[in-house]
Amino acid sequence: MKSGKTNLTGLALAVAMGGFLLGFDATVISGVVPFIQQYFALNGVAGSLRLGWAVSCLGWGAMAGNLAAGFLSDRYGRRAVLRLTAVLFMASALLASTATSFTVFVMARICGGLGVGAAILTAPVYIAEIAPANRRGGLVSLNQLMIVIGISVSFFSNYLLVGLGADSWRWMLGVQAVPASLFLVLLSTVPESPRWLLDKGRSSQALSVLTSLHGASAAQQVLAEIQQSLRAAASTVRIRNVFTARLRFVLLFGVGIAFFQQITGINAIFYYLPTIFAQAGGGLATALGRAALVGLVNVAMTLVAIRLIDRLGRRPLLLVGVSGMAIALLTISWAFHAAPATPGTVPLVNAQLVLFAIITFVACFAISLGPVMWVMLAEIFPNEERAAAISVVGFWNSLVSASVTLIFPSELTRFGPAVTFLGYGLMAVAGLLFLAFHAPETKGRTLEELERTLLRTSPG
Ligand code: BGC
Repeated sequence: MKSGKTNLTGLALAVAMGGFLLGFDATVISGVVPFIQQYFALNGVAGSLRLGWAVSCLGWGAMAGNLAAGFLSDRYGRRAVLRLTAVLFMASALLASTATSFTVFVMARICGGLGVGAAILTAPVYIAEIAPANRRGGLVSLNQLMIVIGISVSFFSNYLLVGLGADSWRWMLGVQAVPASLFLVLLSTVPESPRWLLDKGRSSQALSVLTSLHGASAAQQVLAEIQQSLRAAASTVRIRNVFTARLRFVLLFGVGIAFFQQITGINAIFYYLPTIFAQAGGGLATALGRAALVGLVNVAMTLVAIRLIDRLGRRPLLLVGVSGMAIALLTISWAFHAAPATPGTVPLVNAQLVLFAIITFVACFAISLGPVMWVMLAEIFPNEERAAAISVVGFWNSLVSASVTLIFPSELTRFGPAVTFLGYGLMAVAGLLFLAFHAPETKGRTLEELERTLLRTSPG
C-alpha cells in the first residue's frame, strides 16, 4: 500500500476535479458574452436584463444544486453526488454549445449550475472528511486551487478559441465535455467518505477506508472519535436541524462570510471580465488576454494561500486579504470615476490602473475569502449537520452571487462602473469589520474538537 500522504493528496485532487469543472463552467461565460449578445440580439435596457439572466442563470441552477446536494449526499453518499455532477457538466457542455434558441441556452446553463451547486459543496465536505486535522486546511484548499485552475483554463481556452470566428463561443462551451468525462473516470478510483459510512452504520467499510488513509493504529482512534461525535447528535439530518440554538453562532458566521465572499463582486468581475476591460478600452482579443493574466494570478495566489493556511491560520489571511480587496475595489472605482464613462474613452493610465487594481483584488481574494471561506465552512459545523448546514450556507452564497451577476449589466448601464465598484468597495470594508469581530481561528484542531468548542460559544 502507498503511504497515507500520497493517497490523501491524490484522492483530494481527484475529487477536486469537481472544483476544476465548476470553475471552468462558471467563468467560460465571460468569453461567450460578447458573442451571445450578438447571436441572441441582447441589446438596450431589456437586452441588459436578458444578458444578466443568461449569465446568472447558472447561479440560480447552482442554488437548486446546493439544496439537493446536502440531502442527496447524506442519503446516497458523497461519491454518488460527485458522479452526478460529472454527468451534469457533460450534458450542459453539449447542450449549451449546440443551442440555437435563448431558452435552450439558458436551460443548458441551469443544468451546469446544478452541477456547480452540488460540486462546490460536496467536494470540500468529502475532502475534510478524509483529511487529518493538521493537513485539512491545505487539502480542502486543493479544491479551491482546482476551482481557480478551472477558471484560469477557461480564460485561456477562450483566448485561444476566439480566433475561430462567429461560432467560437460554441467551442468555448463544448470543450468542457472532455474534463467532465475524465472526472467520471477518476471518481471510480475514489472510496466513499468514512464519516458518511459510519453515519450509515457501515463501520467495517469505514474502518478499512480509514486504515488505507491513516494506517491501522491511527484508524482505530479516528474511528472512535467520529463514532463519539455521531453518537452525541440526532440520527436524522434535516435542513431544519440546522436552524437550532445549538448551531446559532456557527450558522450566523457561515451566513456572514458567505455573504461577503459574493457581495464584494468576485463573480461580477470574473463573469464579465472582458466586458469590464472593454469599458476601459482595447479590443476583444486584448481583453481576453488580460482575463487570462488575471486567471494566472488567481492560481498563483491560491497556491500561496494553501502554503500559509495551516501555518498562519485562517484569521490573518482573511484580515490581510479583505483589507487589500477593499483598497483595490475603491481604486477601480476611482480610476473609472476620474475618466469619462463612455466605453473606449478611458485614458491609458486609468485603463492600466483598472487592470492593476483588478489583479490586486483577485490576488487578495485568492489568499483570503476565496479558499478560506470554503475551508472554514467544512470545519465549523458538527459532523452530523455538516452536509445540511453547508447546503444552507452554500445556497445563500449562490443566491448572493446570482443576484450580483444578474444585476451587474444593468448597474453598468444605469450607474456606470465607478458607482458599481464603489458599492463593492464599501461592502469589503463592512466585511472586514465583520470578520475582525466574528471569525474564529480553526487552525490545527480536529473536527471533533472544533465541534466541542465552537458550539459551546453559541448562546443557548
Ligand atoms: C467562490 C466562487 C468564485 C471563486 C473564484 C470561490 O471561492 O465561491 O464564487 O468564483 O472562488 O476564485
